[in-house]
Amino acid sequence: MKIPANVHVSTHPLVKHKLTLLRDKDTEHKKFRELIRELAMLLAYEALMDLPLSERSVQTPMGTARGHELLEKVGLVPILRAGLGMVEGIHEMIPGAQVWHLGIYRDEKTLRPVSYYNKLPVDPTVQVCLLLDPMLATGGSATAAIEVLKDWGVRRIKFVGLIAAPEGVQVVTEAHPDVPLFLAAIDDHLNEQGFIVPGLGDAGDRQFGTA
Ligand code: PRP
Repeated sequence: MKIPANVHVSTHPLVKHKLTLLRDKDTEHKKFRELIRELAMLLAYEALMDLPLSERSVQTPMGTARGHELLEKVGLVPILRAGLGMVEGIHEMIPGAQVWHLGIYRDEKTLRPVSYYNKLPVDPTVQVCLLLDPMLATGGSATAAIEVLKDWGVRRIKFVGLIAAPEGVQVVTEAHPDVPLFLAAIDDHLNEQGFIVPGLGDAGDRQFGTA
């Protein structure tokens, strides 16, 4: 597929190495969770390259240094369940970030997203959101989640995922061309059950041992 300009597929060797371990059907749950956490941090690093800064000076033991601090409030928005494993590592890097959970599952027959949890307050409390979900299959869940965040009033949204299907990338970028996607890989295709091939199976089940 021709990759749209706002879709970034990481070329970092660590991402490629860890993604291969993540895909392996013999990778057990504990290692799988560890890899999800590490990959999320690496991709968030790439996704946040343009975070605005304000200037701030700091006293070192030797004098005054000119420095910076984050200007905007960052929201981490995992799509339950599978996005949960992507939160902790990024949250450690940005301890001041707010975490807002969205519960969305995909109906197994229709493959349409079903929303079941959303406790966002009326007014937005962050300026930029990282929407977190390891899998982008039909794109229905991500598209629905982005709509929720836009309705909430957030203008700058970045989707951070691990594996996407070309079909899902097309759906999300057409519906929300202003939302960049940061991914570890775009795979071959979706099968009849809506699973990404070759993918890694069900990211929620493999994290939480519920297969
Ligand atoms: C998976 C995955 C995404 C969604 C992707 O979740 O984590 O949220 O499907 O599919 P889509 O792009 O076709 O919408 P699932 O519905 O299996 O829920 P779970 O994380 O609770 O297992």
